[in-house]
Amino acid sequence: MGKRETAEKQRARLLRAARAAMKNAYAPYSHFRVGAAILTTTGKVFSGCNVENASYGMTNCAERAAIFAAVAQLGPKLEIRAVAVVNDHGVPCSPCGACRQVIYEFGPDAIVFFQGAKGEKQAHIAELLPEGFRLK
Ligand code: THU
Repeated sequence: MGKRETAEKQRARLLRAARAAMKNAYAPYSHFRVGAAILTTTGKVFSGCNVENASYGMTNCAERAAIFAAVAQLGPKLEIRAVAVVNDHGVPCSPCGACRQVIYEFGPDAIVFFQGAKGEKQAHIAELLPEGFRLK
């Protein structure tokens, strides 16, 4: 299998996982269901969905849910290779600023797949979050 074919397979795998997680979203306030999946550098996939709260600010995005699930399983050495985000409205939805910073923490070289203003898009995390914060 060629490099491009492998990359395309991984993207499809991530999108599938993100869509499956999206179905479990808890979004009674916004009615906007989001699913995310991450691919680790060791080839594992973890997914998450948004979980809202009556105290709106307590809401957790799908991307962070996926990353936190991965840390819970793998421990603090998690390295993210790619992230995919989907939503049930079929509208543009890139990771929010908070999630960009969390993606950057574990994946300073990660590729993010999401729906942009002009359709499916992929971007390097540093394009989405220039000069991300690091504590070293
Ligand atoms: N949301 C995510 O889960 N990920 C994103 O990338 C954008 C926004 C959620 C948070 C909230 O539950 C709903 O979408 C509306 O903002």
